[in-house]
Amino acid sequence: MFGLRRARQTAATLVATAAAAATALVASPTATAAPQPIVGGTTTTTTAYPFMMQITDASGNQFCGGTLVAAKKVVTAAHCMVGESAGNVRVVGGRTYLNGTNGTVSKVAKIWINPDYTDATNGHDVAVLTLSTAMSYTPASYVSSSQTSVYAAGTTARILGWGTTSENGSSSNQLRTATVPVVADSSCKSSYGSDFVQTDMVCAGYTSGGTDTCQGDSGGPLLIGGVLAGITSWGEGCAEAGYPGVYSRLTTFSDLVTAQVNS
Ligand code: ARG
Repeated sequence: MFGLRRARQTAATLVATAAAAATALVASPTATAAPQPIVGGTTTTTTAYPFMMQITDASGNQFCGGTLVAAKKVVTAAHCMVGESAGNVRVVGGRTYLNGTNGTVSKVAKIWINPDYTDATNGHDVAVLTLSTAMSYTPASYVSSSQTSVYAAGTTARILGWGTTSENGSSSNQLRTATVPVVADSSCKSSYGSDFVQTDMVCAGYTSGGTDTCQGDSGGPLLIGGVLAGITSWGEGCAEAGYPGVYSRLTTFSDLVTAQVNS
């Protein structure tokens, strides 16, 4: 996706600058995590996670993930939808495999992109799709605006997606999942500097890297206690030591999402 590349380049530029000032932050080549799924994790199914949606183009090529939060409403990332028109986007439910043909394919009646969105590293990275066809899959609950304590550092969060299984790898044909700890805001700020917008973002990942979302996972869920609490947004590379994944902090956008869900 164009949006994500820009986000990654922005982060990379920042990192190069930060590296000059603080060499201790820079992972040595040997510290680079071995390529693993989502990166790191296991295969799973949409039976286990029925709210997990593929977002594809009109030809069926998956490019992002999304979370069903009501029969006709899907939460995803704004950066996934920039430049897309509703007529060219499909949402696929109940399909564990990218090359599957089962499940439900819906056209998109409306794309709402957070009007404040400019670039993933500036925050506001949330969008809501209104489907033409209702999905018969159980939707996920999402955090309310007051549930800010769910992001306590060290809390286990679950990530899901069909994204690349290593930084420059290829997508996973089967849905994958992994768990990652929520990272303290202060720590994420140390990694990403001013690109980390604390009000709009939350980080998750291991200090040593190795498990992370990656390209193609964007828009998909970060679940905390089984509840949608974040949206896969950006990161410097994937699964790199010292650079956790960055997720949209859904408590900040919960009321905006609810307005779309009820619209
Ligand atoms: N922006 C990416 C996408 O569009 C997601 C990147 C997540 N990166 C990470 N290191 N967690 O799929």
